[in-house]
Amino acid sequence: MRFPAYVLDEAEGAIRPAVTELAEDDLPAGEVLVEVEWSAINFKDAMVTRPANRVARGYPLVPGVELAGRVALDSGATFSPGQRVLVQGYDLGVAHHGGFAGYARVPAEWVVPLPDGLGTRQAAVIGLAGFTALLSLRRLEHHGLTPTGGPVLVTGASGGVGSTAVALLAAAGYDVVASTGKSAEHDYLSGLGAGRVVGREFAEDDGRTLGPQLWAGVVDCVGGRTLAQALRTVRYGGAVAASGLTGGNDLSTTVYPFIVRAVALLGIDTVATPIAERRALWDEMPGVFPLGRCQDMVDAEIGLDGLTGALARVLDAGVRGRILVRP
Ligand SMILES: NC(=O)c1ccc[n+]([C@@H]2O[C@H](COP(=O)([O-])OP(=O)(O)OC[C@H]3O[C@@H](n4cnc5c(N)ncnc54)[C@H](OP(=O)(O)O)[C@@H]3O)[C@@H](O)[C@H]2O)c1
Repeated sequence: MRFPAYVLDEAEGAIRPAVTELAEDDLPAGEVLVEVEWSAINFKDAMVTRPANRVARGYPLVPGVELAGRVALDSGATFSPGQRVLVQGYDLGVAHHGGFAGYARVPAEWVVPLPDGLGTRQAAVIGLAGFTALLSLRRLEHHGLTPTGGPVLVTGASGGVGSTAVALLAAAGYDVVASTGKSAEHDYLSGLGAGRVVGREFAEDDGRTLGPQLWAGVVDCVGGRTLAQALRTVRYGGAVAASGLTGGNDLSTTVYPFIVRAVALLGIDTVATPIAERRALWDEMPGVFPLGRCQDMVDAEIGLDGLTGALARVLDAGVRGRILVRP
């Protein structure tokens, strides 16, 4: 069996993409062969196209840190042929061929069976971004966040994690304030359920260590200065769930939010989330995610030949919601 694949290879310090054909024998080891129906682009997929990225652990590599499709074969007989599944995180798309190909072969302990009521396309729209949003929300709620506790800020709101977080929190009854650098996307974010849309400068930086107490909680996927601003404007006892770095991987802050306002900084990682927790959260997804909003979040639907342009657009923060990939 041969199938199309988007392969990155490295030569003389440059990373070059090619749409080519692979055979089943080219795939890495694993019990479960999945026919990929949908993948989607995440920021990390764009990072592996850059030289010296410290994300990819070797080339040639089929990127794509998530996929949704049907089981073609499971040598361990955990899953049935034809069963709808998704795979995301772990080594997928960084050290193990990922979702930008017609087929993927993965260990059974990476596989999430799709719950009833969730199709493979919907699973790809929600994807790793929506999973990050749900994990962020659950961590904030574990810390004490409730819908009546006050406004929740979502940063990088027009992107994948941001859009899915706005929709998820609004559906759960939260008062969502969406922060975006894209003035053209205010109506889009209001449509997803944001009560208010603000710019990236959501708090005046008057040089004081602590700012006004604005948010009961924050879902931040931007990092850098945005995360520092979020920390100095969270209300007493509130928390920030930090998952990303599109605005920078440094963090310059003081200890005052922590020791004066009892603010908590909650780290979010979806790469190594234990599989039992991942499966349990995906089981919840059809009941908590507003599936009727999925289509609004689709920026584009592309084939493998559209990937190079789309990945460049992600690096330029030029995406609204999610780009779906149909290999
Ligand atoms: N921890 C985890 O397990 C995990 C899981 C998934 C994603 N992530 C990380 O989360 C981040 C977002 O991922 P994504 O897939 O949602 O990316 P995305 O779709 O590209 O969205 C990122 C958004 O960040 C904002 N942004 C971009 N550049 C910025 C800058 N210089 N300053 C401030 N804001 C900027 C933009 O939103 P606006 O234009 O609306 O401001 C952009 O749409 C990435 O860093 C990704 O690696 C982490």
